[in-house]
Amino acid sequence: MSVSRRTVLASAAGVAAVSATSTPAAAADTTVARPPAPTLHKLRAAADYAVEKVRAVAPSVTAFPVGTKFEKWVYSQNGDWVGGFWPGTLWMAWLHSKDDAFRGWAVASAEKLAPRQYDTGTHDLGFLFYPSWVTAWRLTGDARWRTGALRAADSLIQRYNPRGRFIRAWGALNDERNAGRVIIDTMMNLDLLAFASSQTGDDKYLNIAVEHARTTRRVFPRPDGSTPHVYDFDPATGAPIGPNTVQGYSPTSCWSRGQAWGLYGFTTMYRRTRNPEFLATARSLADFAVGALTPDHVPVWDYRAPQQPYDIKDASAGAIMACGLLDLSAATGRHAYREVALRLLTALSETCLTRNSTRADGAVARCTRHRPNEDGVEISLPYADYYLLEGILRVLQPQDVDRAIDLATV
Ligand code: GLY
Repeated sequence: MSVSRRTVLASAAGVAAVSATSTPAAAADTTVARPPAPTLHKLRAAADYAVEKVRAVAPSVTAFPVGTKFEKWVYSQNGDWVGGFWPGTLWMAWLHSKDDAFRGWAVASAEKLAPRQYDTGTHDLGFLFYPSWVTAWRLTGDARWRTGALRAADSLIQRYNPRGRFIRAWGALNDERNAGRVIIDTMMNLDLLAFASSQTGDDKYLNIAVEHARTTRRVFPRPDGSTPHVYDFDPATGAPIGPNTVQGYSPTSCWSRGQAWGLYGFTTMYRRTRNPEFLATARSLADFAVGALTPDHVPVWDYRAPQQPYDIKDASAGAIMACGLLDLSAATGRHAYREVALRLLTALSETCLTRNSTRADGAVARCTRHRPNEDGVEISLPYADYYLLEGILRVLQPQDVDRAIDLATV
């Protein structure tokens, strides 16, 4: 399978701009109707709150927030899988506030990720390098970010299993235990590969992303559009084994954050390839997730958890889902997806912010990291803050978000 080089290059992923106020140069269609004034007011107030929270906390942040304990950030020194989100949040805060203090913090934080560009031991290189280094390249034009992001893409493609046509999720390359594990989250790491093909003109990155997405769409979605967290393959033969889970309730359940990663990731892959199969999958996953929402529009942690719809919440799933639905609406012209996204962002803004706490380091509360391990139940998570800001700015400042992460459809 090959995607035409012309098509890949047309995504113009390397557009660089130099200030928070300069003219957008990328080609996304960001012309949609503005939401009603009360909705805009709520979203702007939430973005202001999140940005002021980040401004207050940033001077004391010395590493990468991974989640809160008793409302205070707990840090990883090397970034774990989340190291892209703190610099990404700072870039979003810069775009919203136009205050160069955020730009300085974003650069300083992103620099700390440098060793990870050579990390072949995880699939999370897109999470790590897209909101941080790709965004830094697009917003500053400094080529060192581009070079590092391309190295990260080179590390990621080493995890491709050509027999099963998938990118393995976990474990070092010489660790056989996890060699056949594929997870729905990986869909969000594929845009780094699309970026690499657009930058280098070499189709190999995007071809691997497309093969992985095809495999994922073949085995993950159930007829109703729900997905398991994990699907196992025999790594030696590439033969499918079956669905599984680690962060969801069971192999037959539907972990809400995984569903959100899937719908957003398939939408992005559609934008990068125009493959209608990816669009159909994105819509199917989106339709299931929308149908599973409770009236409060804060996703339960697993749509098939035993106590749902009254189970523990994961606001991060709502923030990611909102971004994916805004993207899907723009890609399809279907306004209904945008309406749900606006309701999600409004719900997060009204019921999930840490406004009433004087202690909280994060902006968004009520997120759940790993319910089966009883690890991080209804805490703050750095990706909730990042995607809340990305989602709100997709509504308020779409050209700026386009400049940062490339919203163009090929
Ligand atoms: N990608 C890991 C998670 O969403 O928790």
